[in-house]
Amino acid sequence: MRVLVIGSGAREHALCVALTSDPAVEALACAPGNAGTRQLAEPFALDVRDPDPDAVAALARTWQADLVVVGPEVPLVAGAADAVRDAGIACFGPSAQAAQLEGSKSFAKHVMTAAGVPTAQAWPVGGPAELETALDEVAALTGGAPYVVKDDGLAAGKGVLVTSDRAAAVAHGQAVLDAGGAVLVEEYLDGPEVSLFAVTDGTTVRPLVPAQDFKRRDDGDGGPNTGGMGAYAPLPWAPAGLVDEVLATVLQPTVDEMARRGEPFSGLLYAGLALTSRGVRVVEFNARFGDPETQVVLPLLATPLAGLLYASATGTLAAHPPLEWRAGSAVTVVVAAAGYPEAPRTGDPVTGADGEGVLHAGTALADDGSVVSAGGRVLAVTAVGDDLAAARQAAYERVAGVRLAGAHWRTDIALGAVEGRIALP
Ligand code: AMP
Ligand code: GLY
Repeated sequence: MRVLVIGSGAREHALCVALTSDPAVEALACAPGNAGTRQLAEPFALDVRDPDPDAVAALARTWQADLVVVGPEVPLVAGAADAVRDAGIACFGPSAQAAQLEGSKSFAKHVMTAAGVPTAQAWPVGGPAELETALDEVAALTGGAPYVVKDDGLAAGKGVLVTSDRAAAVAHGQAVLDAGGAVLVEEYLDGPEVSLFAVTDGTTVRPLVPAQDFKRRDDGDGGPNTGGMGAYAPLPWAPAGLVDEVLATVLQPTVDEMARRGEPFSGLLYAGLALTSRGVRVVEFNARFGDPETQVVLPLLATPLAGLLYASATGTLAAHPPLEWRAGSAVTVVVAAAGYPEAPRTGDPVTGADGEGVLHAGTALADDGSVVSAGGRVLAVTAVGDDLAAARQAAYERVAGVRLAGAHWRTDIALGAVEGRIALP
């Protein structure tokens, strides 16, 4: 099978690593890729920030791909999977319409309401007056909990403000409105967060192992929200039966509701969950593999990846054998550029980034063939171990081997779980 991966992050590098170890994969390409994926997959120029679906389909055709795997949300929302399928090529990833589960938080809320999926109560805001009213209503309902104000559209994980400062909540909502966006005010969800991925073909749903992401920049969950600073899997503290419960109450009902609407969702359904004092609630859906959680979920998957994604793309998941998992745990630590997330500095030399488990995100090759930083999240340094403590130690040992001027990373990825400090409310 010839597999073309679309994207340029550490998620795509992790996909390439897993696909390379599937004997069914004869050839691998990654467009545009990065300095890490180039070691495994043929690179092709492609603008993933402003993707042209027809350019993705044309590349798939000329490269004679049997399967296209679309990594990021932006090309999916733009219709890349539709264009590839229209060209008669199997594609792992939802249609533009189905990707609205991620592309529009209000669409996702409508689907969840129709499907009876538990989520935070939300108030759509069309203008400044409604913003004040929504904040009044949510304050009356939750009595002193922080305000949650969201950009309704795609914002790379940075569109959400959680704050107890009402003026800051108003300012964030106003900034989104001023930029021409729509705003959602939400009930605050307490409790630890879980990312649960499921592969689906629009009918059958196969959950993967749960993971946890660290969205804040700084140790102890301080600083601004980022695209994600690290992750680990599986979750030693997760309640028994969590995956089955989420499959029954969230994943399957959502997939069924999308099919009922005539907008079947195939690809990767990512449920961002909060385990609150009132039960499991959906924080958000994403329509693709999460980054950085993919970097810890895929190394634990023993089932060959290409066959699984092909089954999703071709509607044959019901006939696919049950997923098999390796024992042990995985941890990934994101090494970010100076200035990330606000204004990442790029163009710095990166060394020591060719070791095992060092997945590349924002990297590029300079003219002389050396690796330079090219984005905010530069590397996702990953290790697998017999248990979480061993995986964590190995990941940080690998971090110590990389050099990037001005780099920063969290030192507490998976620490609370190793120390048994994750409490369910
Ligand atoms: P989102 O872009 O919706 O995934 O939100 C990004 C992050 O903001 C989430 O991972 C949570 O940490 C936080 N967040 C979003 N919605 C809520 C909520 N209703 N209550 C508490 N935290 C939230
Ligand atoms: N890990 C967060 C995301 O992929 O959106």
